[in-house]
Amino acid sequence: MTRDKWTDVDKYVSELLAPEDSALHEALAASRKAGLPSIQVTPAQGKFLQLLAIACGAKRILEIGTLGGYSTIWLARGVPSDGRLITLEFDSKHAETARANIKRAGLDKIVEVRLGKALETLPQIQAEGLGPFDLTFIDADKVSYPEYLDWAIKLSRRGSIIVADNVVRDGKVADASCDDPSVKAVRRYLEMMASDKRISGTVIQTVGSKGYDGFAVGVVG
Ligand code: SAH
Ligand code: DHB
Ligand code: MG
Repeated sequence: MTRDKWTDVDKYVSELLAPEDSALHEALAASRKAGLPSIQVTPAQGKFLQLLAIACGAKRILEIGTLGGYSTIWLARGVPSDGRLITLEFDSKHAETARANIKRAGLDKIVEVRLGKALETLPQIQAEGLGPFDLTFIDADKVSYPEYLDWAIKLSRRGSIIVADNVVRDGKVADASCDDPSVKAVRRYLEMMASDKRISGTVIQTVGSKGYDGFAVGVVG
């Protein structure tokens, strides 16, 4: 199995089941133009996140790591018009680009892009009583994943879903001797899911146009 084959299948699946409309296309074009890195989820992954939101009847969603708002748009389209999605981003250029993309998609009534380091904005969100969130998508700096998981659980209710992106990273996660701080933090995240009584979870490995990676999916008990 080659990476070319994964990409071919991803293209086939995306075009069939997760076609991008003009708002998603324009979000990517504007992000590229603004010089943002192309590290957003794939269309098929965006659709998966949206389906999770729909399946759990999510009315409140928390996202940690906005970039240009591509995953945000997929997720926000999975909540009803009186729902709310708060997405956290510390880079002002990313946040501004995302706000414009979200507005163009007609989702600015549902979505709030909150600027700041997530470990500083998460306590604000708790203090403002904006939770509990039905679904949380963790996708910012990997070294903080264990702390993000702790916050996500605190901001959850029984049955809330917590998804984290990029937990496999070409298989590096299985290398216990790897001293890359991101890999170590992701391993700690998974170990927390294994031992923390507040959550039960698993990992779904993924291949596609963004290479070999995976999602951690957990349910708060
Ligand atoms: N979820 C997006 C991709 C996010 S990329 C999508 O799939 O479309 C990760 C983002 O997290 C980047 O925009 C980066 O600036 C942001 N980020 C990194 N560290 C952060 C921090 N400490 N607080 C908030 N955002 C952070
Ligand atoms: C990369 C990909 C991601 O999905 C992310 O959240 C951060 C970085 C990357 O490919 O470098
Ligand atoms: Mg990611």
